[in-house]
Amino acid sequence: MNKNKISIVILAAGKGSRMKSAKAKVLHSICGKEMLYFIVKASREISDDITVVIAHQKESVMASMNSYFNDINFVVQNDINFPGTGGAMKNISVKNERVLVLNGDMPLITPNALNGFLNTNSDILMSIFNLQNPDGYGRVIIEEEQVKKIVEQKDASGIELQITTVNAGIYLFSKDILNKYIPQLTNNNAQKEYYLTDVISMAKADGLSISALLVEEEHFKGVNSKKDLADAEEIMQQRINTKWMEAGVSMQLPSTIYIEEGVTFEGECIVENGCRITGSSKIINSHIKAHSIVEESIVKNSDVGPLAHLRPASSLEDTHVGNFVEIKKSTLKGVKAGHLSYIGDATVDEGTNIGAGVITCNYDGINKYKTTIGKNVFVGSDSQLIAPITLEDNVMVAAGTTVRSGTIKSGELAVSSAKQRIIKDFYYKFFSKK
Ligand code: UD1
Ligand code: CA
Repeated sequence: MNKNKISIVILAAGKGSRMKSAKAKVLHSICGKEMLYFIVKASREISDDITVVIAHQKESVMASMNSYFNDINFVVQNDINFPGTGGAMKNISVKNERVLVLNGDMPLITPNALNGFLNTNSDILMSIFNLQNPDGYGRVIIEEEQVKKIVEQKDASGIELQITTVNAGIYLFSKDILNKYIPQLTNNNAQKEYYLTDVISMAKADGLSISALLVEEEHFKGVNSKKDLADAEEIMQQRINTKWMEAGVSMQLPSTIYIEEGVTFEGECIVENGCRITGSSKIINSHIKAHSIVEESIVKNSDVGPLAHLRPASSLEDTHVGNFVEIKKSTLKGVKAGHLSYIGDATVDEGTNIGAGVITCNYDGINKYKTTIGKNVFVGSDSQLIAPITLEDNVMVAAGTTVRSGTIKSGELAVSSAKQRIIKDFYYKFFSKK
């Protein structure tokens, strides 16, 4: 495919007021990435001339996209042409003769779906789908297999509202058609908006041919509300999970597993039900057990959970982390931490056992400090390690010990528990009072 043949314009300047949010609509995320990210990513597969139209919260939209891509052109939709998808097209200049225009709120679009627009003999090709409930979409009036007109919901008559063929929000135009009709758009309608969709009836009146490509909602769904966002996320999640299962990852009840777009798996991995794996986490030959959370971490040849929480910047290798263990910004290699621990800002080396209930006290209320634990260390249950602290190789910590800051040297035992006393018949005396 020749990438240079088509320009893409993505409309991302709108307020998105139906989201009821302070955040620009196109920056709302599904599966860990902004909606606009997915659209730009798919667009870059078929074009090297991509323009994103911005206005509302333009700085954040630009900053977000520039953090992923370095080849996007931004055009600002100015106040005079605001609002409206047609207004968004008013200052566009593109490289190629053919221009694909996309709404910025359709994160489920794929390169394959976009490819469907590249072959047409018509002057304009637009996308339609049929919905039982067409609410919110523009209705498409088709006569003799040619599109005659798009009527926005708010301008539609009672009869038009019953049409279930809707405008999916992608159009293939020629540069000449855009240059001719975009300047003629007016905002003389129910919403006082410059509708891009009015180009269709204007072109039709001049005798141009306008075809409709029937597409699937699964790839073309527009996101206007938080409910739409959640629905789109569910579809995207199924795609992500399917991709990884096809790559050999075992998943139990995949519909309960949330894996973000940037996560990668290698080798043979198992993910049990209810897990959440986020950011750019890397899971290699590992088993993530039920209801565990892995955030922006690396897990290699290890098993995690059930009910464990790896917070960002954790790295596990040849390690077992069991239930109710929370790990943050720590590196564990060849370690067992089976139950009920907090390990933060720590490095723990091979052969070390972290007993149940061990806590690294990494924060004194002002600063965070590091804990370093060497090889073959045995940390007894219910101990607190007050950082900054080093336990050298071959150290023991007795159960229930509070280890103060400093260094415990190789071969040493740290013990701070009070001496045990036995008081005979105390139980009987105590309760006989009652
Ligand atoms: C639009 C179509 C509708 C179609 C639907 C498909 C128009 C007039 N209507 O409606 O026929 O069924 O998409 O999903 O085009 N935008 C701008 N500048 C603006 C206003 C919007 O760039 O001034 C951008 C938005 O950021 C958004 C996209 O255009 O990404 C679509 O805008 P939106 O308001 O969601 O259009 P719909 O009402 O859904
Ligand atoms: Ca929309």
